[in-house]
Amino acid sequence: MRVLVTGGAGYVGSHTVLALIEAGHTAVIADNFSNSNRAVLERLESIADVPIECHEVELTDDEATDRLFSAGDIDAVIHCAGLKAVGESVSAPLEYYRNNLDSTLTVAGAMAKHGVRRLVFSSSATVYGAGHTSPLSEDSWPLESSNPYGQTKVIIERMLTDIAAANTGWKVALLRYFNPVGAHSSGLIGEDPRGIPNNLMPFVAQVAVGRRERLTVHGDDYDTADGTGERDYIHVVDLAAGHVAAVDHLDSMATDVRAFNLGTGRPTSVLGLVGAFERASGQAVPYVVGPRRDGDLAVAYADPSRARAELGWAAARSIEEMCADTWRWQQANPTGMSSQLVS
Ligand code: UD1
Repeated sequence: MRVLVTGGAGYVGSHTVLALIEAGHTAVIADNFSNSNRAVLERLESIADVPIECHEVELTDDEATDRLFSAGDIDAVIHCAGLKAVGESVSAPLEYYRNNLDSTLTVAGAMAKHGVRRLVFSSSATVYGAGHTSPLSEDSWPLESSNPYGQTKVIIERMLTDIAAANTGWKVALLRYFNPVGAHSSGLIGEDPRGIPNNLMPFVAQVAVGRRERLTVHGDDYDTADGTGERDYIHVVDLAAGHVAAVDHLDSMATDVRAFNLGTGRPTSVLGLVGAFERASGQAVPYVVGPRRDGDLAVAYADPSRARAELGWAAARSIEEMCADTWRWQQANPTGMSSQLVS
């Protein structure tokens, strides 16, 4: 299939592009590079050893998005594009709702117009909010999120569910990511946050490489084995494989829309991840314990059984591999994708 990957130059999108190509699909990237780097394209082409079609486009622009579909025999869309920083979404909710909802409506509108009915959507485990107990199953209800970013995912899931219900032939998979970490084994692509990382793994990696002095552990008085928060970290290459499994499954899906957790089902604490990273990198990761972060849960991990049963997909990579691959990427790119430009 020719699969359009929106946000295909981003962290999850770029690994998904490689997984699609490896599986024999053709990947077409659409990205506005607002939170990604153009250098990713040549790196992807060098890993995949094929030219990759890439369009710089604003997916909130109806005409530009329409041209993308007119140009191209698209069989399916993987919609990864979107703003994703929780803290930023709290201070700029209008921008988050406008961008994430508008781009999804524009892409879905172009799909409807051009007869493209296969859609895989990048959702997030943040849709479960605070009201449910782990392991989190897809049937948890109601969905809600403590922040505007997460709420855009809740609303978009609902929008796509309604669209699938009304338009004969749409097949939509909603992929609820847990905590994507790691990098491609080549060390050429990985997570490249701008500014101070919000998420644990990139922060730990930047401490290990000497870019930041120490980690602040957000609370060690949770009701968990070591007192720190537990999460379901999933290797981004496993996550990417989950997208391919979902695209391949759409035509045989029993319902028009279906949500799938993409996680390992195994929780790891903050200190557990720090220890694993120290072992994988051979570097010390100094930390101090600070107060809890607003909105954080003690524990969040997936029940991944639906994806295993219906998509035939399961995460294979261990926390050690997640740390080793993150470290390879971080060492090769100490200041991220733009490292080559820094003297
Ligand atoms: C966060 C987002 C979630 C998003 C996900 C993407 C929040 C509240 N949630 O989830 O919406 O989908 O990222 O992966 O931001 N931690 C520290 N020190 C740090 C950073 C994190 O101790 O400097 C701890 C956190 O308190 C948490 C764990 O590490 O216990 C993981 O944090 P993070 O990587 O930010 O992910 P989530 O909070 O699970």
